[in-house]
Amino acid sequence: MNITNDIKYIGVNDREIDLFEGQYVVPNGMAYNSYAIVDDKIAIMDSVDINFTEEWLDNIKTTLDGRSPDYLVVQHMEPDHSANIANFKEVYPDAVVVASAKAFAMMKNFFGTDFDGKNLVVGEGDTLSLGRHELVFVTAPMVHWPEVIVTYDKTDKVLFSADGFGKFGALDAEEDWACEARRYYFGIVGKYGLPVQNLLKKAAELDIEIICPLHGPVLSDNLGYYLNLYDTWSAYRPEEEGIVIAYTSVYGNTKKAVEYLADKLRGLGCPKVAVNDLARCDMAEAVEDAFRYSHLVLATTTYNSDIFPFMREFIDHLTERDYKNRKIALIENGSWAPIAAKVMREKLSACKNIEFAENTVKIMSAVNDDSKAQLDALANELIRNMEVK
Ligand code: FEO
Repeated sequence: MNITNDIKYIGVNDREIDLFEGQYVVPNGMAYNSYAIVDDKIAIMDSVDINFTEEWLDNIKTTLDGRSPDYLVVQHMEPDHSANIANFKEVYPDAVVVASAKAFAMMKNFFGTDFDGKNLVVGEGDTLSLGRHELVFVTAPMVHWPEVIVTYDKTDKVLFSADGFGKFGALDAEEDWACEARRYYFGIVGKYGLPVQNLLKKAAELDIEIICPLHGPVLSDNLGYYLNLYDTWSAYRPEEEGIVIAYTSVYGNTKKAVEYLADKLRGLGCPKVAVNDLARCDMAEAVEDAFRYSHLVLATTTYNSDIFPFMREFIDHLTERDYKNRKIALIENGSWAPIAAKVMREKLSACKNIEFAENTVKIMSAVNDDSKAQLDALANELIRNMEVK
């Protein structure tokens, strides 16, 4: 597959994987992208996951048609991209490995060598000429590891963006880009909003026509759409007005309260109500929703003098990703010790710019007229707050 006349796709699709990074379900598989820039000199951009050594090396061989690569540019050392560096060097011992100083330190740890004598350390603004193509290296620490660089091809106006602008899913998956890119972003890069903002500022100085990420499709049309979403996500701004209700329910009573509230909100014209049962849904989808929408309702029970484990895990996912700039409402159910709202509030206390709803709903075992009145009051407050017309 040609990206431009000189830039060829040499990556692989992984349809066997069960959990990406050992934790994310990827029902439509995963792509590990790699590219060849074919010029007077040839640069290979990153390697692929260890399960695809032969396929990737075959792709290189077929694409280069008898020529040998001069450089292997390593933008990111996470093994889904770096696992085949040593295998590549066995086949192409004369190729020079190009990477940041931190990446070479990691290569020593992974492979026991930093390819001394055949390596080139690059940093911010360094360039590499391949002939017609001039590559400019841009540091992107913590997008998503500290050693990351991205690479701008000045000739074809292509940004090789490492993990940035990636998504879950093999390249032949027919699915909405934003849905799986958002779940990927908040799962994997979400904690590093400020570094992503820094990278976006550098990218704004470049004339970019094509983005070549390490996962997901090559992006070439309407780049403003993708850049705007990344700006929204990394600035921790809600993408849409809407309410996500995340809940746990042991015997179904808290679930009834959530369903009552969701119906009420829909009846009042809430533009979007998303409901996630944290014990049964994909936790990464629930995290994605929490960052996507403007309002979050958390409903859970007291459990072992704390809160129900799935809610505890969910809140941990939010706080470790620097969740902020949202409005949160709390619903607690405590048959004999209602402390869940207090515990949830404490767990969220480090989050910045969080506004808690005035109405906190307390259910004692089962929904009754009193708790329905509390849920009505909460629904009205949330809708007022959203200024739904
Ligand atoms: Fe796709 Fe951070 O590796």
